[in-house]
Amino acid sequence: MAFTLLQSTLFSKPSLFAHKRSFAFCIQLSSFSTVSAFPSDKFQPHKKWRRPVASVLELGGIKIAKTEIVRDDPTNNVPDSIFSKLGMQLHRRDQHPLGILKNAIYDYFDTNYPNKFDKFDDLYPIVSTIANFDDVLVPTDHVSRSYNDTYYVDSKTVLRCHTSAYQAELLRGGHTHFLVTGDVYRRDSIDSTHYPVFHQMEGVRVFTLADWEASGTDATSYAAGDLKKCLEGLACHLFGGVEMRWIDTYFPFTNPSFELEIYFQDDWLEVLGCGVMEQEILKRSGRVDNVAWAFGLGLERLAMVLFDIPDIRLFWSNDERFTSQFSEGQLGIKFKPFSNYSPRYKDMSFWISNSFTENNLCEVIRGIAGDLVEEVKLIDNFTNKKGMTSHCYRIAYRSMERSLTDEEINDLQWRVREQVKTKLHVVLR
Ligand code: DAH
Repeated sequence: MAFTLLQSTLFSKPSLFAHKRSFAFCIQLSSFSTVSAFPSDKFQPHKKWRRPVASVLELGGIKIAKTEIVRDDPTNNVPDSIFSKLGMQLHRRDQHPLGILKNAIYDYFDTNYPNKFDKFDDLYPIVSTIANFDDVLVPTDHVSRSYNDTYYVDSKTVLRCHTSAYQAELLRGGHTHFLVTGDVYRRDSIDSTHYPVFHQMEGVRVFTLADWEASGTDATSYAAGDLKKCLEGLACHLFGGVEMRWIDTYFPFTNPSFELEIYFQDDWLEVLGCGVMEQEILKRSGRVDNVAWAFGLGLERLAMVLFDIPDIRLFWSNDERFTSQFSEGQLGIKFKPFSNYSPRYKDMSFWISNSFTENNLCEVIRGIAGDLVEEVKLIDNFTNKKGMTSHCYRIAYRSMERSLTDEEINDLQWRVREQVKTKLHVVLR
């Protein structure tokens, strides 16, 4: 079965009701680092395996307090664990698999379109709901706008959930060929290919009348043809000669819309979403007689395949046994696992409340166990005669780097149970 490169199919479904699961500042960041509020272990409020969360982020010289991004009010749903990821910018590290992949994609564009594409990889990750949704025509009832799927700083400000959030602004700024790479944020379930922060690259190319007139085809067919040629070339550049297929799909921002799948290790793998940009986006950006294509690809899924990385959490590992395996410019290197600890399972059953969602459950568990949680899976679900619904979840705990003790796991599970009960208003069974 093909898995989706774009983390979840958030944007490929028309509306909130059709599919359950799934600021205003835009500045270049020159440096973006975290300042620890807990200089030594003894100041940590929790047990020794918990990482301290910084209380201040530095964005290109500007300090942003955690209290501005993580607040205890109903319009905010950003947890500490997500704040601590802001500004990590894995895609800007040339020796990291995501940086190596980004540079390989840059090479393709530089070779095939010399000096054509403007590149952005440090745009501010906190954007307005207008940029994230309205500017790219995401319907008002679309699932991606819900607090269950997106991290809101306040009712009008979100952590970008896709790099498409910059399309309109860059077009308005006069850019006609551009690539935007960045970390994106989505509330989601937990397994080896889903993590609430991942990385995308957006590409846009605008054509003028003169470009397609000579071709004898209409503007849309011309742009779609050029898009497919460009992306097939990119897939070959990254994967070598591979079998590929185009799938028709839906995105709010493109028409027609496609997904590209490649055949890799006995499976069809979705590598990107793309299409011919909706005319309305161009028109609102002041570009009338133009047509454009756009694409968005998910760097983790692509890198997992290219580097043989089995679990998405590894991208965040500082363990030298991971980081030392990759070198700048080396796309073909295969990751050699350095540990083989088995997962430890804990089951938890409860009567759900009306407001219960799996994304909320996963957020609570990640807030406690961090990257020690590998998977959260619904293994039983039934409704009794009184109409009460029970869920049983199996939680897999595993560190990528070391073995976990019984004491540690029991403590984690105890805290998970306590918080699930109090924060999610469910009744444990
Ligand atoms: N923004 C989409 C997502 O995150 C990906 C995408 C699809 C981007 C089609 C595009 C596009 O620019 O044309 O799922």
